[in-house]
Amino acid sequence: LIDRTSVVNRLRGVLDPEIGISIVDLNMVRDVYIEGSHVKVTIALTVAHCPLAKTLQTDVEKALKKSDEIKTVTVETTAMSKTELNELRTSLQNRATQPRPEQGNGPGPGINRLGKRELRNIIAVASGKGGVGKSFVTSMLAVQLRRLGYEVGILDADLTGPSIAKVFGLKDRPSKSPTGRITPVLTKTGIKVMSINLVLDDPEMPVIWRGPIVNSVIRQLYWDVDWGSLHYLLVDLPPGTSDAPLTVLQSLPLDGVIVVSSPQELASLIVTKAVNMAKKMNAELLGLVENMSYLTCPHCGETINVFGEPQGEKLAKQLGVPFLGSVPVDPIIARLSDHGQIEDYSTPVFQTVADELRLRASQHVQQLMQGLPIAWSTQQSES
Ligand SMILES: Nc1ncnc2c1ncn2[C@@H]1O[C@H](COP(=O)(O)OP(=O)(O)OP(=O)(O)O)[C@@H](O)[C@H]1O
Ligand SMILES: [Mg+2]
Ligand SMILES: [Zn+2]
Repeated sequence: LIDRTSVVNRLRGVLDPEIGISIVDLNMVRDVYIEGSHVKVTIALTVAHCPLAKTLQTDVEKALKKSDEIKTVTVETTAMSKTELNELRTSLQNRATQPRPEQGNGPGPGINRLGKRELRNIIAVASGKGGVGKSFVTSMLAVQLRRLGYEVGILDADLTGPSIAKVFGLKDRPSKSPTGRITPVLTKTGIKVMSINLVLDDPEMPVIWRGPIVNSVIRQLYWDVDWGSLHYLLVDLPPGTSDAPLTVLQSLPLDGVIVVSSPQELASLIVTKAVNMAKKMNAELLGLVENMSYLTCPHCGETINVFGEPQGEKLAKQLGVPFLGSVPVDPIIARLSDHGQIEDYSTPVFQTVADELRLRASQHVQQLMQGLPIAWSTQQSES
């Protein structure tokens, strides 16, 4: 039998997409109406026209439909009042002052990390070796998070093989903002991109970056750029486990790292190295994505393991890392990338990966206290 308590219990697992805390704890669940196998719930949003409302509605629907008894779900939304918002703020403030569990070993001695400004989650995408589709995974995660309504940016930190501008078809040069910072270039769907080849005179010319210069260029691409408020800044790291990705990992205030592998990497040693590199940093290892895992036969739909048996899931388990998903080989990807149309691509696995990511990504309630959530501040500036 469905009752109010069981409905509310199911909703405990649904997090507010902006704040990252259960909507039940945030007191956002209002009316619960049950009629036979139909459930109608009203959710009070923190902002009336929150761009993430659709995501929240879908999450609520999914959570309720997991129950065998609930057949249909209607989700209505309303907005919190000023008083309710103030109460919410106070309760978030109380949470933020509670001690947080210690994580990682901290950055090494002498390493000064840059600040975070209004960037909620900074997540790097790493791989043990080149060509496994790291830039593709970075791009698709950005595209998918953007589709969910988040404010997203990509920092292309792969100075020797930058490819983010190309797959999004970006050619405009970034402009200087009134603050003297560089304004990132916007993609068709509104992702903010910054890459070294957007500022070089000849983007085709190969450049050799020496150690100390890498560090200063990365700092500029990150710090001298006016990213504004972002829910996610994804960082496409240089491939491998040499000095270049380490420099990036050490100089940016990363919250999480995702490792991309492919079954081609016969020696799982390469992936292990990348995972260990990420573990050493003061960032959460969010998980492993296996790219080019398999091919689906266009004629009969059969799964073909082109590069041998997919091993991502097994490897992730061995390494004690969450497995985020397997991405199939799809010839359309290369064509869309060449034409700068990666935003037109869609494959179900990235919906899962992005969902996992936003649940696992560390949420910075503390930071939230310094400013309002992004959607709130947007509304304030509009009114
Ligand atoms: N799942 C896939 N199916 C088909 N083609 C793919 C897939 N993933 C990536 N590709 C293609 O493979 C090539 C390499 O991908 P990508 O540039 O993302 O790799 P990378 O790991 O970033 O490489 P690098 O180390 O050079 O930066 C690209 O041409 C890309 O379009
Ligand atoms: Mg790349
Ligand atoms: Zn076939």
